[in-house]
Amino acid sequence: MNKILKKETFSPVTFLWEVEAPDIAKAALPGHFVIVRHKEKGERVPLTIADFDKEKGTITLVIQALGKTTKEMMELKEGDFLINLAGPLGIPSHIEKVGTVIFVGGGLGVAPVFPQLRAFKEKGNYTISIIGFRNKDLIFWEEKFRNFCDELIVTTDDGSYGRKGLVSEPLLEILKGRKVDLVIAIGPAIMMKVCSEVTKPFGVKTIVSLNTIMVDGTGMCGSCRVTVGGQTKFACVDGPDFDGHLIDWNELMRRQRRFEREEKEVLKKYEEDCKLKEKGLKN
Ligand code: FES
Repeated sequence: MNKILKKETFSPVTFLWEVEAPDIAKAALPGHFVIVRHKEKGERVPLTIADFDKEKGTITLVIQALGKTTKEMMELKEGDFLINLAGPLGIPSHIEKVGTVIFVGGGLGVAPVFPQLRAFKEKGNYTISIIGFRNKDLIFWEEKFRNFCDELIVTTDDGSYGRKGLVSEPLLEILKGRKVDLVIAIGPAIMMKVCSEVTKPFGVKTIVSLNTIMVDGTGMCGSCRVTVGGQTKFACVDGPDFDGHLIDWNELMRRQRRFEREEKEVLKKYEEDCKLKEKGLKN
């Protein structure tokens, strides 16, 4: 059992937990993920470690409550316990001094970018971050990023804060103007695909994280199968980091949609149950 020490809500659907997990924090490296189960018989949810504090013995997770399980998770409060937490899992990100590195984070993908940004900065790289959100209300960790960035650009889709538009636009401008040695992009699949397409003509290595396609996170279910450079890989055991220029993005996005109908049905049932509970018609 792992205690939730801190909960912070960023938006009606986005929240952060700081969780007591000394062994995981001790072993955690940028790029690692954990599997969370919030209750007995609860679904296993793979989440990238967004931050860790080895001295405090804590890890930080940022979660978006879009489905039944994550909505249930959002109801937990500080002081509540998770039934179990497994990790750290996955192959950690390769951190080295390369020169200039651009970190692109989209929406919730901003969180898993952070440990990589910090580690690359600590290695002595020049760091530029581009973090994008749908609107001003969804922005989080701007100051946390600023502490480790030589340059920081914030974008919003609707222009309510920072620069209006998509993260790929400033990325292209920077690439046109100077030498960049590495790009790390984490966010929705379409964002990572577009960023990879933008960087390819410049020959800039682009690493993406495929955490969001995982289901059980153990290499058993096959759900995270992805084609990389013509070879079959599994995001949870061979990744989650991969070369964005080698991924078959169309196949990946097709596969991501395969549970859409079931997920919608489960969520609808959960929301109906919540309404009955509110009216005292269900326990
Ligand atoms: Fe099930 Fe990777 S998530 S095999």
